[in-house]
Amino acid sequence: MTPQTRIETALDIALIRSRAGSCPPKLASALEYAVKPGGARIRPTICLNVARACGDDAPGLTDAACAAIELIHCGSLVHDDLPAFDNADVRRGKPTVHKAWSEPLAVLTGDTLIIMAFEQIALAARSDALRAATLTLELARYSGMPHGICAGQAWESEAQVDLSAYHRAKTGALFTAATRMGAAAAGADPEAWTELGARIGEAFQVADDLRDALYDEETLGKPAGQDVVNARPNAVSELGVQGAIKRLDDILSGAISSIPSCPGEAALCEMVRKTAERLTPVIPNLASVRTA
Ligand code: IPE
Ligand code: IPE
Ligand code: MG
Ligand code: MG
Repeated sequence: MTPQTRIETALDIALIRSRAGSCPPKLASALEYAVKPGGARIRPTICLNVARACGDDAPGLTDAACAAIELIHCGSLVHDDLPAFDNADVRRGKPTVHKAWSEPLAVLTGDTLIIMAFEQIALAARSDALRAATLTLELARYSGMPHGICAGQAWESEAQVDLSAYHRAKTGALFTAATRMGAAAAGADPEAWTELGARIGEAFQVADDLRDALYDEETLGKPAGQDVVNARPNAVSELGVQGAIKRLDDILSGAISSIPSCPGEAALCEMVRKTAERLTPVIPNLASVRTA
C-alpha cells in the first residue's frame, strides 16, 4: 500500500461512524467536507515515514497516529478559519466549513475532529496499550497548552509576541508530534526525533509566510496576504523575503543532519530532501511582495 493510500484509508476508518447514518446529517457532511479531499497530508506522511524508519512493527498504531494527527490538523483549520479567528472564506480551494455549512456547525466540526483524533488512538490501544498511552500524551502535549496549537493560536490575543515561540506552538508543534508519534508508534524513543520535527515545522511556517506574501489566492487555495491583513507576526516582515529564504535553507539543512541513526535513515533523508524542495517557494516578481 502506498503511504497516501494508507493515510486515506486510516482517515476513512475514522469517518466510518459519521458515515453510518445515525450522526446528524449536516454534521456528518461537514466532517467529511473538512477532511476529504485533503491538502498535502504532510504531517501524517512525516509520521508514517518516521514509523517506517523505526521498523513499523505495530502498523495499526502507526495508522491511528497518522489519522489522529491529520484530524487534529483539519479541526484546527476549521476553527482557524472562523470569523472569531482569521475570518477566511476559502480553504483548500473551496468555501470554508462555516461558509459552506454555518458557524455553529464549524465549531462543532472542529470539536468533533479533535475528539475523533483521540478516539482513533484509544481504538488502536488493544495492540499495545502502553504505546497508545504514550501517543495520547504526545498528541495532547502538542495540540494543547502551554506549547501546543491552542497556545499558539492564543498568542494572537497577546500584545507582546515572540515570533519563534508563536510559530513553534502554532505550527511547529504538530510537526514535532508527527516525528515523535511516528517513533512512539513503532516502539522507539520519541526524544531522539524531537529536533527533526521541530526543524521541519519551523521551515514549514517560514515557507507558509513566504507563500502568503508572494502568491495569490488561486495558487494558494486560501486567502493570500493574510499576515499583513491580520497584522500577524511573520517571517517576511521580520526578515525580508531574502532573509526568510536564507532562514528556510538553514533550517532544512539542519533537519537532515538531525535525523537519528535508524534502519530507514537513508529513505528518511530522501523524504526530508523532497519536503524541502516542495516547501521552497518559486519567487515571482519581488515588486509584488506584500509587506506591512
Ligand atoms: C496550513 O497547513 C496551516 C498552517 C499551519 C500554516 P497545510 O499547508 O499543511 O494545509 P493542508 O492540509 O495542506 O491544506
Ligand atoms: C493556521 O495558521 C495554524 C493553525 C490552524 C493552528 P495560519 O492562520 O497562519 O494558517 P492559514 O494561512 O490559515 O493556513
Ligand atoms: Mg490563523
Ligand atoms: Mg488562518
